[in-house]
Amino acid sequence: MSNISIKTNADIEGMRIAGKLGAEVLDFITPYVKPGVTTGELDRLCHDYMVNVQGTIPAPLNYCPPGYTPYPKSVCTSLNDIICHGVPGDKVMKSGDVLNIDVTVIKNGYHGDTSRMFFVGEPSILARRLSAITYECMWLGIDKIKPGAHLGDIGYVIQQHAEKAGYSVVREFCGHGIGTVFHEEPQVLHYGRPGTLEKLEAGMIFTVEPMINAGRREIREMGDGWTIKTKDRSLSAQWEHTVLVTETGYEVLTVSPGMPPPSSIIDKAA
Ligand code: MF3
Ligand code: CO
Ligand code: CO
Repeated sequence: MSNISIKTNADIEGMRIAGKLGAEVLDFITPYVKPGVTTGELDRLCHDYMVNVQGTIPAPLNYCPPGYTPYPKSVCTSLNDIICHGVPGDKVMKSGDVLNIDVTVIKNGYHGDTSRMFFVGEPSILARRLSAITYECMWLGIDKIKPGAHLGDIGYVIQQHAEKAGYSVVREFCGHGIGTVFHEEPQVLHYGRPGTLEKLEAGMIFTVEPMINAGRREIREMGDGWTIKTKDRSLSAQWEHTVLVTETGYEVLTVSPGMPPPSSIIDKAA
């Protein structure tokens, strides 16, 4: 039995608007990601853009799921071996760093949730490959989305692609249903078996946001109650889109002029 909400046409229109605004925050912040800048400065710039330019609410700010302390910032900045939920602060970025910025805006009650990887200066070969493989994982997962497909189909292709490359999939965090609620059913696992878990229907909206580690999949939680790092200190990458299940397949909602194009790997997939 699944409890996954089917969005109305009005919901879908609201989610298109929120999705575009979320992606546009990432477009806005892109030129500021460079050596010498702190993650706290990136947070402040994003916060002011959301609140003062877009008229959106940064969903992370004071977000407080059960068992957590309120999240203190407006975006997540996950640098190098941080897997997710990196809290912006005084950390000065240097050339060779690899950064995920995860933005969630609220507009008219609807959430748009998206993240991208950024290279600070010149990336290592490993960082470039890990980011590229993770991007392919996200798009291979998205490309499975259509009515009648199962959530396990998404997890399976992501896990296969990551592990074939010698990387590992983080298990403790997953994609999620989203709408007027930030995190709702279903959980979208980034590993699994084809034909398992819930069957998709048109009108469902959820995120696909694989976290892929260059080393082992185990995590460790930092003392701030939020930041999650790789246990073996290997690099970790993540990309995220919010996606609608349509009658014929899918529509990515977190789209903007500056977003990277869909991975060419999905032309070959089928
Ligand atoms: N944006 C994250 C996600 O993709 C959630 C961040 S929760 C926060 O689900 F409180 F850390 F911001
Ligand atoms: Co998300
Ligand atoms: Co997110």
